[in-house]
Amino acid sequence: MNLAKPELLKHTGELLLGVIGDPIAHSKSPVMHKAALAALGIPGAYVPMRVSREQVGTALEGIKALGFRGINVTIPHKLEVIPFLNELDETALKIGAVNTIVNDGGYLTGYNTDGIGYVRSLKEEAIAELKGKSILVLGAGGAARGIVYALTLEHPDRIYVANRTADKAEALAAEWKALADIRGMAMDDIPAILGGVDVIINTTSVGMHPHTDGTPLDSERIPPGIVVSDLIYNPLKTLLLADSEKKGCVIHGGLGMFVNQGAFALEYWTGLPAPVEAMRSAVLASMKES
Ligand code: ATR
Repeated sequence: MNLAKPELLKHTGELLLGVIGDPIAHSKSPVMHKAALAALGIPGAYVPMRVSREQVGTALEGIKALGFRGINVTIPHKLEVIPFLNELDETALKIGAVNTIVNDGGYLTGYNTDGIGYVRSLKEEAIAELKGKSILVLGAGGAARGIVYALTLEHPDRIYVANRTADKAEALAAEWKALADIRGMAMDDIPAILGGVDVIINTTSVGMHPHTDGTPLDSERIPPGIVVSDLIYNPLKTLLLADSEKKGCVIHGGLGMFVNQGAFALEYWTGLPAPVEAMRSAVLASMKES
């Protein structure tokens, strides 16, 4: 069998994985990780588990008792799990949220693969080098925190964070001012800085299914020929991306982020390179079914 760490399977002969959240029924993580296990030839399971807020601590005790190798954590538990973990890696600590837990014989470590998964996808699919670039991030919520932190590791020239509530963008910029040149601003201030921007990234929910006629940036404001990226993957091509494509921009949707956050998680659990294409195909096929 093609498994770098056979000791992972020593208890049950199967690699036990899953995801906790509430709701969880529509998560695409099970279909994606089952395809990954099949492609790697690892016997195992990845199960969706609906866990209420009050049960997060007991659920993590259960993960240890049942011998799960690891789990993903999704909304609304990305902050809730933290007090129950033994350790946080540097990225999860800075972002203050966990989406992946590794169980080493009862010792739980929390990671955050959202931001690094996003940046890996952006670099693979849209722009190979972010060093020296000027990047505009729309939104300053939980998703933006992960993305902005991962972007600082790429040494861009400057990161602008624009948010409907300007205070939140300014607070984020102040918190991480030692990591990069980050400037917080109101959405209304965007036109003044758009001229020098190389990449625009939407982290807000504007344009997400079912409100697909929404866009966080009016079409006429999109600079021609730059890179425009949207974290949303339902729909695969948001109105922002369709408008940007018409302007000759390189466009990048959210599917790659979802696949790559899962790929990093799988790499933490197994120590093996993730079969990214099999994972992407499985998610795409399941989106067509639903
Ligand atoms: P997430 O974890 O997905 O980032 P969040 O923390 O609730 O979720 O953040 C949502 C982000 O989308 C915020 O930046 C929010 O702006 P506010 O801080 O002003 O609320 C932004 N957002 C949501 N709906 C929006 C809308 N209709 N117009 C502009 N921004 C919006």
